[in-house]
Amino acid sequence: MRPRPRGTVTRGTTNPNRLRRLDRWLAATAASRLRAATDPLVVDLGYGATPVTTLEWYRRLRRVRPDVRIVGLEIDPARVAAASELAVDGRVEFALGGFELAGLRPVLVRAANVLRQYPETEVPQAWQLLRQALAPGGLIVDATCDELGRVATWISLDASGPTTLTLAASLPYLESPAILAERLPKALIHHNVPGQRIHTLVAALDAAWRDAAPARVFGPRDRWRRTLDTLAATGWPVAEPPARRRDGTLTLPWHLVTPEPSAP
Ligand SMILES: C[S@@+](CC[C@H](N)C(=O)[O-])C[C@H]1O[C@@H](n2cnc3c(N)ncnc32)[C@H](O)[C@@H]1O
Repeated sequence: MRPRPRGTVTRGTTNPNRLRRLDRWLAATAASRLRAATDPLVVDLGYGATPVTTLEWYRRLRRVRPDVRIVGLEIDPARVAAASELAVDGRVEFALGGFELAGLRPVLVRAANVLRQYPETEVPQAWQLLRQALAPGGLIVDATCDELGRVATWISLDASGPTTLTLAASLPYLESPAILAERLPKALIHHNVPGQRIHTLVAALDAAWRDAAPARVFGPRDRWRRTLDTLAATGWPVAEPPARRRDGTLTLPWHLVTPEPSAP
């Protein structure tokens, strides 16, 4: 018998291609996990009113692991029924499920714009349920983005807990990285206040971006690279290797942004 779906139905807003930055990052960062998986099963949790981003993710992951299987899980039965006609013979299917992942043991879980609609107090338990359901060596991303996916942030977690935070932006549209603070995952968004680590990071990123303003003439990608180089030179352990510092992402270890319990 399938376990009871854990969670609550929320707004189903979605948009084609809005998760492209996350998918690109996952294809690069999680490729080895997916290639090594005995069972190449991944879950798209909370795909929304239509499963357009699930089908996009399938096409992207298929390049990494041709036999990948995706299950789109939704807690809203009407959304499961509506999506089922878009299933792809044995490769993409849609089912009812929540944070318990419907008894599945996936190697990757993408939960995009799901937890942002929950109270912050419910995040730890949701993370715990997801982590318990992961296949060995698996990875979860708890992501948020704006309507068109020009600004996105995500936390990655493995079985032991959160491991990294990634900030991502469409560079031609980026005036100031401070805008990323408006799209932080629920675990961080209420902690962007002085005295908290995430606030220190956003301020340092913004200052480095301003310092790189003279590089505007070389284009926004070069300006982002210089921004990351400045952060790295001032001690931030930027995960992006120098060759990938023009892509508009910044990934840092979770412990550098963990909310301080005693601070507001
Ligand atoms: C805003 S939509 C996100 C759609 C898509 N992931 C995206 O980012 O474009 C959030 C969806 O998550 C679903 N949802 C909320 N809590 C859930 C849970 N615990 N398990 C599965 N789905 C959930 C909601 O029903 C809703 O359809």
